[in-house]
This record gives sequence, structure tokens and C-alpha cells, in this order.
Amino acid sequence: MVNKKEIARRRTFAIVSHPDAGKTTLTEKLLLFGGAIQVAGAVKSNKIKKTATSDWMEIERQRGISVATSVMGFEYEGYKINILDTPGHQDFAEDTFRTLTAVDSVIVVIDVAKGVEPQTEKLVKVCRMRKTPIMVFINKLDRPGKDAFELLDEIEQKLHLKVTPLSWPVGMGSSFKGVYNLYHRALHLFKPSSQVIEKGIQFTDLSVPQLDELLDTAAETLREEVELAQGVYPEFKIDEYLSGNIAPVFFGSALNTFGVKELLDVFVKIAPPPTGRESDVRFVKPEEPAFTGFIFKIHANMDPNHRDRLAFVRIVSGTFKRNTLYYHVRLNRKLKFASPTAFMAQKKSIVEEAFPGDIVGLHDTGNFKIGDTLTEGEILHFKGIPSFSPELFRYVVNDDPMRAKQLAKGIDQLMDEGVAQLFTGKHTGRKIIGTVGALQFEVIQYRLEHEYNAKCRYEHITLHKTAWFTSDNKPQLEDFRARKSSQIALDKEGREVFLADSPFSLQMAQDKYPDIRFYFTSEFEAED
Ligand code: G4P
Repeated sequence: MVNKKEIARRRTFAIVSHPDAGKTTLTEKLLLFGGAIQVAGAVKSNKIKKTATSDWMEIERQRGISVATSVMGFEYEGYKINILDTPGHQDFAEDTFRTLTAVDSVIVVIDVAKGVEPQTEKLVKVCRMRKTPIMVFINKLDRPGKDAFELLDEIEQKLHLKVTPLSWPVGMGSSFKGVYNLYHRALHLFKPSSQVIEKGIQFTDLSVPQLDELLDTAAETLREEVELAQGVYPEFKIDEYLSGNIAPVFFGSALNTFGVKELLDVFVKIAPPPTGRESDVRFVKPEEPAFTGFIFKIHANMDPNHRDRLAFVRIVSGTFKRNTLYYHVRLNRKLKFASPTAFMAQKKSIVEEAFPGDIVGLHDTGNFKIGDTLTEGEILHFKGIPSFSPELFRYVVNDDPMRAKQLAKGIDQLMDEGVAQLFTGKHTGRKIIGTVGALQFEVIQYRLEHEYNAKCRYEHITLHKTAWFTSDNKPQLEDFRARKSSQIALDKEGREVFLADSPFSLQMAQDKYPDIRFYFTSEFEAED
């Protein structure tokens, strides 16, 4: 029997932001509240530096450490919270997209001075596509920044989100006095760097003179702004939030632990418990008794002598148990796991059982790739873990003829981990690696050399995009294949992709072959 109580108390989410908005700081403060860490700074040291791209050695070094922060579980007021870490470095955007498939909601952090930044736009777009409920935390109110109305406007326009503030700032920067919680109708006064969380002062009616005593001239501004805000923004309705239509907004300062507890308290109450997932045959509900789950992330071992990896499975339904045979659908094989791990309160431990919403790390010697499904025997594949058309491409060439096998194996395994995508020219047989960021090319080269003892070099290719394609019009498809044969490659699954060398050639192909549909994510069946 699935424990309904265990499902109901779980909250699995990710914090997303543009680098430097305060994701790491906020994560750390949440962990402090959960008693998962004792001192500030513990998570910080795990952060992947996001400055120069030449920092990839540093990224490599930190890769090992970041296993620990991939998933952070902790208990808070009866809730089991799982925070999934997303890489800050923009070159790892695809990792972040995939992580978003494993969460049930997200918190978006925005820097009050910088407003909505490009990476936030991209990530929120993915959340919107998936209808993931979003909460917004506007951070760094202790610094001068944009006016609250202006910022909310910007969020609505750039992120295409309807918003409703659940707290309202009183001043900002040097005149920041606190926030008024519109949800609980309480005023929280700001004290810089105070780790002590004081209970808000209840003000159901903002017209009372005590407010002027506390806030001086800022009281009148607060009254006006709250009145205006309540006129402009819709009332908060939980259903609208849960269906991804409206994002509640909070203001605070993560560094000063201000506004964080309020965010967390509202979050645990309103954020969705584990939701089910769509598969190719049916929708799988969390409360179903049989275990199902999917792999959304694979982490390579840092030790080059051990090529084992940790595959992260998100549990969708049932109860996952240690040492139990589960069915690996793609391989049509049963596997059992003697030492599944989880990170609770930053400690790695063996889990005996885990429930929907939980993330478990499975020791893997090369059986898994991203998107794999595990069940108790049912044949189904979870959807929603697509590959995206990469943005940068290079030919990969073997640089040590004696080690061709090692190179092939290395490339194969790195692709399974989702580091990049491999396409093989249908006629030329040439291998093309596609990535979202330039850094991955260096990472691949380095890892091939250090983990697989193989050498590769890259050669330039003029390539704008890869597009998967299908058509019901057989003659048109055949004509396209014949004429564009030199521009057709196979992805790792053996599916055909069109290699468009420029936006123009893509447009031409689309115009000339109107019955052929081109897709920029690999999961195009879902759109049909
Ligand atoms: P990220 O993970 O989103 O990249 O951001 P991170 O938490 O690392 O925060 C980026 C910078 O912003 C850090 O400063 C952090 O201390 C600061 N910060 C976070 N929250 C607040 C806040 O509420 N107010 C103010 N004033 N600053 C905040 P840094 O100088 O880059 O790092 P560090 O040297 O302090 O570690």
C-alpha cells in the first residue's frame, strides 16, 4: 500500500534564477530553517563558479562536490522537502531543463535591481510549457532597486506570467523597513543580518496610527501602494497557482534571512505535493501501488579509475525499496539496487525505501541513460524529458587511431549522461557533437582523455540547427531524403535529423516541403 500521508507531506522543487540573483543564498537559508545545515556558507562552497568560461577546470573539480547538492532533502514542520539543485552556469542550461522535469514546482529568484534577466526568461518558459506552479522571490531588497510596480510589470511582460504579490515592500535599499505580508496581514520589520525571525505585527487595518509610529512617513506610502496593488492584481487563488496560471510574489533579502521564512511557510502550505506523470501509454498517479520512476540526471564519478556513475531517479508512483528487482524498460532487464542513496540534511545515506516525489541516487555501471523508465514490470516510458536541438556543433575526430574503441565508448557514455548530443552523418558517417554551451566541448575532451584514455579533436562545421522531421506524405519525404542526403544525420536513437546550415536553408526546406514537419525537441510525438 502506498502511504498517502508520505505523498501528501512531500514538496519537491527547484530554485531557478539568473546567476547572482541569490539562488545559492536562498537555498542555504532554507536549509538553515530545516536544520539541515548549522552555519551559513556550507552550500556556498559547493557553488559552481559562473564567471569565465575558462573556469571549466574548476567546474570539473567541483563536479564531485556538487553531487552532494544535486538533491537536498530536509524535514520542516512535518513536511519532507526535496530541493533539486540546478546549475548556475548558462552552459549547463540543458541540465537545468532536465531537472525541471523532476520537480513539482519552482521558486524563481529575481534580483530587485536587475529585474528579469535572460536565463530566468528561458527557464520560466520551460516551466510555463509544463504548467509548473511558480512562486517568485524578489531578492536583495536591502539594496536600491526597481520600484515594485515596475518590477511586477516587467515580470508579467517578460516572463508572461500573471502575478499577485503576497507581500509588499516598505521602502528599499538604505530606507528598506520591511515587508507587509498581504496573505497574513502582518508587518515584518527589517533588521539587517538578524538570524532571529520575529513574528510579524498583525495589521488587519492599515489605517491605524500605530503604523505611522512604526514606519513614519513610509506608512502613508505603504497604505497607498497596498490599496493600488490590491486594485491592480487579482486576488490570490490557490487553484490558479497550482494550474500554473498565476505566480504569487514575495519580497525579501536572502542574505539577511529576511522574508525567507515567510516564503517557506507559505510554500509548504500551497506548493503541490508530488504530481503524477504522463507516459506513452497512460497517466501514472503517485498513489498507485506499483513503483515507477524515471532517470533525469546522471552524475559521473570523479575518480577516473572508476567509471561508475550515479543515476538519479525521480519516483513517480508506489514505494521504491532497496534490494528489490525492478524492470528497466528500455533494456528489458530486471535490476536491483543494493545501495540506493539519498541526501538528507546534507548527509549521504542508504535508503531502504522512498516515496513519490523523492529522488534516489542509483549506483550505475552504464545501464542508464537520461529518460530511462523503471517499473515493476509494466511497459511504459515517461514523457516530458526531451532533448532540445543543440546550438553549437563540431565534428569530433579520433586523435589516437589505436584507441578508437575507447573513444566510441567514452562518447557513447557521455552522451547517455546528457553532456551533449551526438549525430552521425547518414552517408558520411562523420560524427557531430552538439551542445548548448561552448564549455561542454572542453569538458568532453578532458573527460575522454582522463576517464577513457581516448583523444579527440574537433573540426569546424557550419551548422545552424538540427531538426527532427516526420511526414505522412511519403513521396515528399523520399524526395527530401534524396535531395538533402548530405544534410541528414541520425541521432543516438537512430532517428533522422536535418542538418540546417543556416536559418535560410531551414526556411527553404520548410517552404519547399510543406508536408514535412520539423521539430526542435526530440519529443515531437507528443505534439501530434
Ligand atoms: P546565485 O546562486 O544565484 O548565483 O547567487 P548567490 O546566492 O551566490 O548570490 C550572489 C551574490 O549576491 C552573493 O554575493 C550574495 O552574497 C549576494 N546576495 C544574495 N542575497 C542577497 C541579499 O539579499 N542582499 C544582498 N545585498 N546581497 C545578496 P557575492 O559577493 O557574489 O558572493 P560572496 O562573496 O558574498 O559569497
